[in-house]
Amino acid sequence: MTPPRNSTAARDIAYALHPYTDHKAHLINGPLVVNRGKGVRVYDDQGKEYIETVAGLWCASLGFDNERLVQAAAAQMRKLPFYHSFTGKSHEPMVDLAEMLIERAPVPMSKVFFANSGSEANDSVIKILWYMHNAIGKPEKKKIISRLKGYHGITLASASLTGLPANHKLFDLPLPGFIHVGTPHYYHEGRPGESEEAFATRLAEELEATILQEGPETVAAFYAEPFMGAGGVIIPPATYFEKIQAVLKKHDILFCVDEVIAGFFRTGSYWGSQTFGIQPDILVCAKALSAAYLPISAVMVSERVFQGIAEGSSTVGTWGHGFTYSGHPVPAAVAIETLKIYDEVDMLGHVRTVGPYMQEQLRKRFGDHPLVGEVRGVGLVAAIELVEDKATRKNFDPSKKVGAKMSKLGEQHGLIMRVMTNDSIGFSPPLIITTAEIDEMCDRFGRALDELMVQLRRESIVAV
Ligand SMILES: Cc1ncc(COP(=O)(O)O)c(C=O)c1O
Repeated sequence: MTPPRNSTAARDIAYALHPYTDHKAHLINGPLVVNRGKGVRVYDDQGKEYIETVAGLWCASLGFDNERLVQAAAAQMRKLPFYHSFTGKSHEPMVDLAEMLIERAPVPMSKVFFANSGSEANDSVIKILWYMHNAIGKPEKKKIISRLKGYHGITLASASLTGLPANHKLFDLPLPGFIHVGTPHYYHEGRPGESEEAFATRLAEELEATILQEGPETVAAFYAEPFMGAGGVIIPPATYFEKIQAVLKKHDILFCVDEVIAGFFRTGSYWGSQTFGIQPDILVCAKALSAAYLPISAVMVSERVFQGIAEGSSTVGTWGHGFTYSGHPVPAAVAIETLKIYDEVDMLGHVRTVGPYMQEQLRKRFGDHPLVGEVRGVGLVAAIELVEDKATRKNFDPSKKVGAKMSKLGEQHGLIMRVMTNDSIGFSPPLIITTAEIDEMCDRFGRALDELMVQLRRESIVAV
């Protein structure tokens, strides 16, 4: 249907270049225009209501109408709407937030650097790694190992860390020096008869073989999300990180942990690092740091890493890195308020109640459905993977666009969903979701899934 002239939808088609969109299809299909939010719900320009099953982009942790965050931003804007942190300048919101993060870190951390997005934060980490290794006299130690299906962002270097084809194809990426090892997804990658632990051992051996082949003296860091988010909510097999960390320690390779989605309770602990027993040297967070009300990301570095940066900066005369808006006082004030709210409402306790409830409901209600291959997740994050053949775990051919069809049906039933590779549908609702709202989300999902089955039969995509 062609949108009315001069409507937001028509002007969107005329003027907007959207991230992550098939632009030719968009010229025909147009946008979904969302214009207000309340709690875990958003409303489109026709007034239709949706439950946001992924909190926007895994980020709107406190929902879409938190007045305290609005007030925190307004108050800071009135007091000091901008100041920077270059050349030793400082201001209270940045310092308070840095202190709060260090106090809450999963392991002792030394300093915090602020950026505006997850991608910028990860890019900054890569530059930190290169800079510090030059500064400490190990200029050959520069390569970074990450994982296929990992997601770390889209700037040139962070996209090089990312292990998803769409972020590399036609972009001439990854850059040299970025190496990808296997995905820790037992459901697809585990071999017949192989236990989860044996699978984890195999992945750790693969990592070690890669390090030895490249030369341990050339590898600076291993980069990983505690669970893979955009790659399909992939939960690592038991003992995986324990074994991976033993290899990293043995070869003196730093561990950079990307908690952009996992940080702030998503996995049922304050940090994903705590859920999975990870000891990061560098930790990156964003998204729920400010409940997504304003852009801000943070890089926490250990004392050892800080010493490397400090050493380099005294040689060069400056650490020539930083964004105009690094530690911007307004997003910092919103982030401080967000962390205070988390403490006051006992967000950890809440997620430890609603998280297991969501996991149980998704498994109980959809685990046996003929289209559902795997229901996986931890804490308040999950995925349902749709498959063509439950027994062989065979996915649908991507040309059938089964996930996109499900997403469309979801919208009709009042759900905004996130479809990822292999028709995996993510669930990462605002942390404030209640059990009643989880029930409602599952009811709507169930209706959409049953309709999908009818549609796929009608289109002869599945047998009748
Ligand atoms: C784990 C992870 N790292 C980094 C990023 C990139 O963050 P941004 O989109 O803010 O650049 C994302 C975004 O989803 C992410 O999930």
